[in-house]
Amino acid sequence: MSFTDTPLAPAIGSVVTGLDLSKDMSEPTMRRLLALLFDRGVVVIPGQALDDAAYVRFASFFGTPLDFFIAEHRNADFPAIIHINNDPATPASMRDGAVHWHSDSSYESVPGCVTMLYGKEAPVEGGETHFASTSAAYDDLPDATKARIDGLVARHELGRAPWIEGETRPDPNRPQRHTDAPSHPLVMVHPVTGRKGIFTSGTAYAIDGMDDAEATALIRELREHVVKPAYRTSYKVQPGDIVLWDNFGTVHCASPIDYSNEPGKRRLLHRISTKGMPALCA
Ligand SMILES: [Fe+2]
Repeated sequence: MSFTDTPLAPAIGSVVTGLDLSKDMSEPTMRRLLALLFDRGVVVIPGQALDDAAYVRFASFFGTPLDFFIAEHRNADFPAIIHINNDPATPASMRDGAVHWHSDSSYESVPGCVTMLYGKEAPVEGGETHFASTSAAYDDLPDATKARIDGLVARHELGRAPWIEGETRPDPNRPQRHTDAPSHPLVMVHPVTGRKGIFTSGTAYAIDGMDDAEATALIRELREHVVKPAYRTSYKVQPGDIVLWDNFGTVHCASPIDYSNEPGKRRLLHRISTKGMPALCA
């Protein structure tokens, strides 16, 4: 089946039309979606009607789906599917935990590969997710900055990154996965495309061989550069949308949301995150 893709913004994102995944998860279609995702960083596929099993099967084309570490967020039959909602019963410590620029699982030795959201309910107002291309941002760096940062290695941990404007620090009481405080290259070579990108996520807090004050300033400078308007887009996940992003080439940031069960205010997203390389890209 052929489909059409249209840019969401000049530097990042594409919207796919003319694709019904319940009828077509053929290898040629999935190869084309993988290539589009790793080229554009974010892909929106509207109008989908997949059951949980089919959604997990779709996700498996993008790496190995992970079982989420907070057990109560898991779907009992399909533990890779995490339910994200804005139920007012949500404890304060669990609210708005993703309102900072990051890529998923960067606080682990093996960072996340692809994350996807499947929209089930969307509020009338608010609920956008913001995205930025770390590879487009890298391309635009001055040559002197590229020379300065190429080869540097950053250390990552939850809650220690230098914050930038507009971010909300996650509540320290929020349940967190144990982190093994990994190191990652500050300039990430994309494992599929080979394109370089700035990899601070929201977790880089120190740089090997660099004084702490200098490292903090450099990480903050790079984080502020990545989220400049030229590299960004925003999208609100609507019911039936599947939205995927490439964690090696992008960062994302949620919007603060009202926690409400009222009609028109509810949100429900089914999230799956993967690790490892997609088999079709090996
Ligand atoms: Fe995230």
